[in-house]
Amino acid sequence: MTARLSISILLLLQLQLQCSATVFKLTNAVCESFNKSWVEFELCRLRAVSRHKVYLNLNVTLHQPINDIHIKGQLMKKENGYKPWLYSVSFNGCQFIRRRNNPLIKLVWDLFKEYSTLNHTCPYVGQQLIKDFYLRSEKLPTPIPTGEYLVQLTWIINKKPIAATNFYFMFVEDL
Ligand SMILES: *[C@@H]1O[C@H](CO)[C@@H](O)[C@H](O)[C@H]1NC(C)=O
Ligand SMILES: *[C@@H]1O[C@H](CO)[C@@H](O)[C@H](O)[C@H]1NC(C)=O
Ligand SMILES: *[C@@H]1O[C@H](CO)[C@@H](O)[C@H](O)[C@H]1NC(C)=O
Repeated sequence: MTARLSISILLLLQLQLQCSATVFKLTNAVCESFNKSWVEFELCRLRAVSRHKVYLNLNVTLHQPINDIHIKGQLMKKENGYKPWLYSVSFNGCQFIRRRNNPLIKLVWDLFKEYSTLNHTCPYVGQQLIKDFYLRSEKLPTPIPTGEYLVQLTWIINKKPIAATNFYFMFVEDL
């Protein structure tokens, strides 16, 4: 899977157009816990600070130490409802954070790592924060088609889906 992913990334990078967007912002955030004895969201909220800048603030409490976490991610694009766009990814969170060996996940991680308390190796326990995170098009290696998107993440702890987060965003290409 990693090889296929790397090839796709290379193809994306070869498109290397000048990446600037007139709009690249979050439009909605939904966080859901399936088992509150593991994960409890205290806060999962967007705040518009200007017309094209929207902050995400997230405050989540992990009630038990997490040593085994898999994340399933799917990017969807809106076209008569949200349809899968590109491929889905599935990865071992504890392993990724140790090795940073997946280029696609690293791209997403690099977007938000400086805004979060997650920049350390497993276990994760207690309060975790994402503070005033916002999308910056200059961090994208390539523009994406204008549209509305959804990043669906399912958080699988000890082999069971424990939480789901949906982040909606829009991208408008600078033509
Ligand atoms: C939630 O997790 C706890 C601790 O692992 C477990 O005992 C319980 O059965 C789980 N509840 C549900 C609804 O899965
Ligand atoms: C996060 O939520 C907890 C529990 O509600 C609260 O005690 C804490 O102050 C919150 N932290 C921040 C930075 O909002
Ligand atoms: C946290 O992020 C900094 C800056 O990106 C990096 O130098 C450091 O190695 C990271 N720490 C861990 C434990 O990954």
